[in-house]
Amino acid sequence: MILSVEQVTIGSRQKKLVQNVSLAIQKGEWFALVGQSGSGKSILSQAVGQMLAPGLNVEGNIFFNGQNVLELSKKEMRTVRGRKLSYIFQDYQGSFTPFRTIGQHLDEYQKAHGIHSPQARMAGVREALQSVGLSEELAGRYPFELSGGQLQRVSIATALLLAPDLVIADEITTALDSVSGNQILELLARRQQETGCAILFITHDWRHVRRYADRIAVMKEGEIIESGGKHRILDHPQHLYTKQLIKAAPVLDHRLPSGLQEEGKA
Ligand SMILES: Nc1ncnc2c1ncn2[C@@H]1O[C@H](COP(=O)(O)OP(=O)(O)OP(=O)(O)O)[C@@H](O)[C@H]1O
Ligand SMILES: [Mg+2]
Repeated sequence: MILSVEQVTIGSRQKKLVQNVSLAIQKGEWFALVGQSGSGKSILSQAVGQMLAPGLNVEGNIFFNGQNVLELSKKEMRTVRGRKLSYIFQDYQGSFTPFRTIGQHLDEYQKAHGIHSPQARMAGVREALQSVGLSEELAGRYPFELSGGQLQRVSIATALLLAPDLVIADEITTALDSVSGNQILELLARRQQETGCAILFITHDWRHVRRYADRIAVMKEGEIIESGGKHRILDHPQHLYTKQLIKAAPVLDHRLPSGLQEEGKA
């Protein structure tokens, strides 16, 4: 087991935002977390990496690789985050500093995680870009010189570079058009197969859930109301809210995304 969230409650001073949530993610699985806006998906995922905004308190246990992350110091957590646990966000632009090139970003990420040899880091930059189908030449460019899809590819490359055990992907296609979004997920799925990481995948898009998830948990108003294997949830939802969510989703489309090879080869 990679991640075990046990009876976690997250609250601000005013109210409880996540209540008594438990979930477990196995090695290498794609775990989809779905549910209405504001139901607590993001803050739950942030609690796993001690990324919560100040003022939010967590109770319960969160075991990552057998270690209770809620008991780790900030410093200890920093060694886990990035190496063993990494995040990809919807707001990819916010993950990049405008005045640093893509190569510098990838270099600094490796340096921050203990890769001391400049040669090894240079090789890492090349490998990272290659791993997501981007030309090495992009290393010399600034973030604003890349498209949203290309930047999100760099985010994936970065998040998976050090072969983490768990990648948390929070609505990573929301800011992209649907073709780019599909390509990004195909790429994430390929990199997942190559590295064997587990993925905690937060989304509102049921097409992506059907295509990639192994298991699904549904959140509503801070609680997990239903969870189980993909087919059980999609084809035999028990909870009225899950039924409504699935019914409201656009018609599920199984077609393969196209053009994965072409996009981004600048
Ligand atoms: N720093 C914070 N302080 C107080 N309340 C917060 C804070 N961050 C989030 N919240 C509240 O916690 C609740 C859950 O927010 P969260 O961002 O986890 O929802 P979500 O399920 O990710 O929604 P979406 O699908 O829109 O991204 C919301 O009511 C939100 O307003
Ligand atoms: Mg969210």
